[in-house]
Amino acid sequence: MSLKEKINLSKLPQHIAIIMDGNGRWAKQQGEQRIFGHENGVKSVREAVEACAELGVNYLTLYAFSTENWNRPQEEVIALMQLLVHTISAETATLNKNNIRLQAIGDLKSLPADCYNELQEAIEKTKDNTRTTLVLALSYSSRWELLNAVQQIAEKIQNKTLSPQNITENTINTHLCTAGMPEPELMIRTSGEHRISNFLLWQLAYAELYFTDKLWPDSN
Ligand code: IPE
Ligand code: IPE
Ligand code: MG
Repeated sequence: MSLKEKINLSKLPQHIAIIMDGNGRWAKQQGEQRIFGHENGVKSVREAVEACAELGVNYLTLYAFSTENWNRPQEEVIALMQLLVHTISAETATLNKNNIRLQAIGDLKSLPADCYNELQEAIEKTKDNTRTTLVLALSYSSRWELLNAVQQIAEKIQNKTLSPQNITENTINTHLCTAGMPEPELMIRTSGEHRISNFLLWQLAYAELYFTDKLWPDSN
């Protein structure tokens, strides 16, 4: 029996979130620069997206670049952004062929202009797809997202379109980047690190956490 046949499809999570970690260590093992690891991580992204689409997982959120990742050496940040632009433009046709919708969460305006434009174009081109939604977390961190939500809510209170006693959990949900998405039931982190690293802190409240020692480029 194949692994796929063993999966109980009636118990499939609606939303899986993944911290794709270990690209740098994988490259080091091969005696290569860190960016080689990021490039090889793209294959695992493709596999994960295809597996979710095939099984019928509605949402897959991938942590691709955190707010904190801006502090990495400039060379690595530039190479990662270039990889992102290139990958998005190269994969849009496949996303459409496989009926996969692309979305993104995070401080997207902080991305380089070519990256932002490529991303918006791919989001627009795939917006009517219905099989699976692939959410890229880019320049994302949960504290940034929560801070943003608090600022928006405070503005509504100031202009009297919302009163403090009417703030509910749903008010917070609807001011997060993930508004309208189901909460992840499963969060996976590769590379043996047992941390959440500022990822979906509010949304993961009830998620199962699964940690594997495999490095992301080996996770396919
Ligand atoms: C994850 O791999 C990818 C990104 C954060 C962009 P890392 O680059 O964090 O790889 P390690 O953790 O240094 O091995
Ligand atoms: C988390 O991985 C962010 C992404 C996978 C994009 P990091 O490697 O950046 O996180 P830390 O530094 O180990 O917490
Ligand atoms: Mg890491």
